[in-house]
Parts: sequence; C-alpha cells; structure tokens
Amino acid sequence: MQQDAGEKTTLYQTVSTVRCVAWCILRAAAMGGVRGMEFRTVGGGLRVSLVGLGCNNFGRRLGERESRAVIHAALDAGITLFDTADSYGGGRSEKFIGKALGARRREIAIATKFGWSGGAGPRKVARAVEGSLKRLRTDVIDLYQIHRPDPATPIADTLEALDRLVDQGKVRFVGCSNFSGAQIAEARAVADAHDWCAFVTAQNPYSLLDRAIEDDVVPACAPDGMGILPYYPLANGLLSGKYRRGAPWPGGTRLSQWRVSDFEWEVVEGLAAHAEAAGRSLLELAFSWLAAQPGILSVIAGATTPEQVARNAGAAGWRLTEADLAEVGRFV
Ligand SMILES: NC(=O)c1ccc[n+]([C@@H]2O[C@H](COP(=O)([O-])OP(=O)(O)OC[C@H]3O[C@@H](n4cnc5c(N)ncnc54)[C@H](OP(=O)(O)O)[C@@H]3O)[C@@H](O)[C@H]2O)c1
Repeated sequence: MQQDAGEKTTLYQTVSTVRCVAWCILRAAAMGGVRGMEFRTVGGGLRVSLVGLGCNNFGRRLGERESRAVIHAALDAGITLFDTADSYGGGRSEKFIGKALGARRREIAIATKFGWSGGAGPRKVARAVEGSLKRLRTDVIDLYQIHRPDPATPIADTLEALDRLVDQGKVRFVGCSNFSGAQIAEARAVADAHDWCAFVTAQNPYSLLDRAIEDDVVPACAPDGMGILPYYPLANGLLSGKYRRGAPWPGGTRLSQWRVSDFEWEVVEGLAAHAEAAGRSLLELAFSWLAAQPGILSVIAGATTPEQVARNAGAAGWRLTEADLAEVGRFV
C-alpha cells in the first residue's frame, strides 16, 4: 500500500514535471519560436522580438479586416511586440488588436500608450488604463508608455500613478515617449528617490534619415540600460526601397501625400547603392542599421499589408561590419 502510494506520487511528480516542461516549451515557442528572429530583453524581464509591429495604421488607414490580416502575419512571422496607443484610430487600434489576438494574446507583449490628449495626471492614468485593458481584452499591459510629456503634471504624480498600476498587476513595465534626455534623467531620479518603477523604454523618432536622438536621448538611456523603441524607422516608407526619384510612385501610400527633399533623395540613393553592392536591400539596411545602434530594443515599423510585415520581420538580420557602418555614416 505504502509502496503503491509512493509509486503513485512518483508517477504524479513525473507527469507534473513533463507537463510543466511541455508548458514551458510551448510558452517559449509561443513567445518567439519562429526561427531566425532575434530577441532582446530590457528591465530584467521584458523580452521582445527585435522587429516589432507599429500599429498606428489600425483603425485609421486600415479597417478591421485588413488590420487582422497584418496582425496575424506578424504573429506568424515571429513578431512578439505590438506597439499601439489609446489614441490611435480613437481606440480602434487597441480594439482591433484585442479582437484579432484572441488566445494568441499570450504569444506577444503589448505596448500601449496614454496621455496624447488629456494630460498624464493620476486620475487620467487610472481611467486610461482601464479603457486600454478593456479594448485590448487583456488583464495586463506589458509596457505602458506615457505618449508625450505633460507640462501641466509633475512627473512624480505620473510615476506614482504608474507605480500603483504595476503594484495592482495591471501593468508589467512602464516607458516614456517623446521625452528629451533631460526629462528621462529627471524621471529616473524621481523614480529612484521614491523607489517607484522607473521607465525601462524610451520611444522617439529614429531612422537613417533622422538621428537627432543620438545627441540627447540615447546617452540618457544608457546608464540604466533603457531600451529604445525607434518610431518612424522607415521614414514613413521612404526607406522601404519602393520609391525612386523621378519614377512614378505606388499609389495610395502614406508617403504619396508628402514631398521628399533633394537632400533626402541623395541620402536614400547613396544608402540603396551601398546595400545593393552588398547584395542587400535598402529595407534590410534600414532595419539592420537601427538594430546595430546602442540601446535598441525593437524596431517597431508599421505596415499596411501582410506581405510588408513578412518582409520586415526578416529584414534585421544583416550583421553590419565596422566598414559598413562607416560607409553608411558618410551619407547620414
Ligand atoms: N510615440 C509616438 O509619438 C509615435 C509617433 C509615430 C509612430 N509611433 C509608433 O511607431 C510605429 C512606426 O512608425 P510608423 O508606422 O508611423 O512609420 P514607419 O515605420 O517609418 O513607416 C511605416 C509605413 O511604411 C510602409 N511600409 C512598411 N513596411 C514596408 C515594406 N516592407 N515595404 C514597403 N512599404 C512598407 C507602410 O506604409 P504604406 O504602405 O502606406 O507605404 C507603413 O505604414 C507606429 O506604427 C507607432 O506604433 C509612435
């Protein structure tokens, strides 16, 4: 009898261990099992794919069906960071993501933002998070970012409110967007002084055509190892390689309403020639160059079709040499 019970216990333990290991493998596979995708971690636990998906087209240029197709293509390509905001499409971006993910929610980290309008005071933060959780159909937001600085609210008030959300388990990590280097340093000092959660990411415009953050934001992120989420990484599509000076442009694209300066064309043409000489594309250069810069966590490019996502997911794997970086530096 005693022996039977012992055998049962051993069998039970073995089954539990196997189930636990199987669960861990499935979870690991779910969080990025697609071969070839690189992962990076920040804040001691926010692990995301090096290529992320920017979701500001959803609910604006893309309806629900088109958004769903892009979302599923991203999942299938191994992308595990989706970046959205409560303001994108008036909340429709978050809604479409929540609906499209369903059970696949556990495969990805969701980054969203609050405070584009209405400020970042404690009451606003508490209200905004409930709206985002509901629209995203989730219990927890992996990365909750303040969309832009709120000059009317002391940063301490916002940080305290965010710290409360982490304590409540509604948010895992917090980040900032459109902050200057000085604002990032101030936020870090305030969080440290009160032992509140500090920002683990900074989201700012950054691409081969816009390197402004290198003088200010990048050095401010370095001491704590904050991760940088570059937005407009493709300069709104100009760095995708689909535009040529003097040739007809593809219709209906985001850039088709914009003007590209002669200087920008010269840079783009120089970069494209360098990529071509190496047997690569301008798109690969745009992603891989960002991936090679200090502090980059994930390149969150937007997309309007599943094909674009699939191409973007495979575009960050070019390991640029010192010579490549120096050559690129001649143009930008
Ligand atoms: N924190 C902030 O204030 C802020 C501001 C802006 C954006 N963001 C975030 O950053 C993300 C990225 O920025 P973004 O999407 O605005 O700009 P982007 O990544 O520079 O450009 C994305 C656009 O380029 C085109 N494209 C993408 N991949 C392509 C490919 N493989 N081939 C051809 N064309 C391609 C698509 O537009 P077309 O098909 O129309 O050409 C796509 O919508 C946003 O989605 C958002 O999550 C944050």
